Amino acid sequence: MSATTTDASARELHSGGDLSGTVRVPGDKSISHRALLFGAIAEGTTTIEGLLPAEDPISTAACLRAMGVTISPIRSGEIVQVEGVGLDGLQEPDEVLDCGNSGTTMRLMLGLLAGRQGRHFVLTGDDSLRRRPMSRVGQPLAMMGAEIHGRSNGNFAPLAVRGRKLRGAVIGTPVASAQVKSAVVLAALTAEGSTTVIEPAHSRDHTERMLRAFGANLEVVGEMGRHIRVQPGSTLQGQEVVVPGDISSAAFWLVAGALVPGADLMVENVGLNPSRTGILEVLEQMGASIEVLNERDVAGEPVGDLRVTHGPLKAFHIDESIIPRLVDEVPILSVAACFCDGESTITGASELRVKETDRLAVMARQLKAMGAELDEHDDGLTIRGGQTLRGADLDSETDHRVAMSLAVASLMAEGNSSLRRSEAAAVSYPNFWDDLERLQR
Ligand code: S3P
Repeated sequence: MSATTTDASARELHSGGDLSGTVRVPGDKSISHRALLFGAIAEGTTTIEGLLPAEDPISTAACLRAMGVTISPIRSGEIVQVEGVGLDGLQEPDEVLDCGNSGTTMRLMLGLLAGRQGRHFVLTGDDSLRRRPMSRVGQPLAMMGAEIHGRSNGNFAPLAVRGRKLRGAVIGTPVASAQVKSAVVLAALTAEGSTTVIEPAHSRDHTERMLRAFGANLEVVGEMGRHIRVQPGSTLQGQEVVVPGDISSAAFWLVAGALVPGADLMVENVGLNPSRTGILEVLEQMGASIEVLNERDVAGEPVGDLRVTHGPLKAFHIDESIIPRLVDEVPILSVAACFCDGESTITGASELRVKETDRLAVMARQLKAMGAELDEHDDGLTIRGGQTLRGADLDSETDHRVAMSLAVASLMAEGNSSLRRSEAAAVSYPNFWDDLERLQR
């Protein structure tokens, strides 16, 4: 039976199906950006296996190419080669650097470019990215002497960077954000004197792990790995990077497998870096059946295969202490909450309001269209469980993680749904719709 839809370009989403089989999620988005960026400023060649061939890393590669870096074509299943230009080798581009939808591209690029003396760069992005706050990066960089201009006192792109010699500093970042931390660390590589970054909470540490492997003089000191000290002066050497599957993409299958009656899914090759595994802890809190198999270390990152089977789920409660470790999984967890036994609460999640969309508002709006009972708060959601959602006309509102979360909600709905702007999924998971069709038999 097909869904009724008023928009011919909307994707039909069928409810029900068995949901079984094996899926290999595409490469980790955070690690993919970093492999391209660090490869670009290293000496020699970097090879990247498993790079995510999606819109966001393609934006990073396009910006780097515009500054003279040779990067082989990014195609699914192919190793990507980056010919490094060295720490100070990025050329002044003769075009605006378009970061597309990617906050990671823009924020890490600001850190990388702020110290390129005598060179001028202009960065922009799509409608969503031009509304996202950039002074969280600009302000710490300004403490190192950076000159970045933009709308609203430098908070919004388009941004102009005038490269300057930077000086090291001790910087407490305003939010637990790996993008902010990484921007400062990248600026520190060529600053005068050492830099220490202190985060309010531990955010994902892919930058620290990978930059050290490239040869940077970077130490993690203090409580819970929160102080990162960088000494400039080391050259980076090209590396062979292997990118594990993205746990943030795996999360859609993990929740779908836990929710859909009779489901049995194997999600292979998933990155299990402890700064990213909050979703597994919440699934455990819910009583979901998840087995971690074949745990191994791949190029400095822990990896495993995850088997999930359907079972009854309990309500969960998450607060600011875990948000940095599952920040991108809140949309799919809000879907899970609708089907748990009891009322779930998500607090301390105001960062969700400045992602690709205001994800608290968008998820509340879209789930309510399916009949969900929930309350939206400044910093989270309260969601009544045990609900019957009904198929509806849905909209990703251009957000990739919203698109995929709504696809999972639709599996569980009574009646089919339609989803406008479903193509947003390609920002982080280009084959998502094919994988869904294959697994939903
Ligand atoms: C990312 C960090 C997170 C995350 C984003 C990717 C990264 O953002 O939401 O998808 O690669 O560093 P914040 O640093 O803003 O928390």
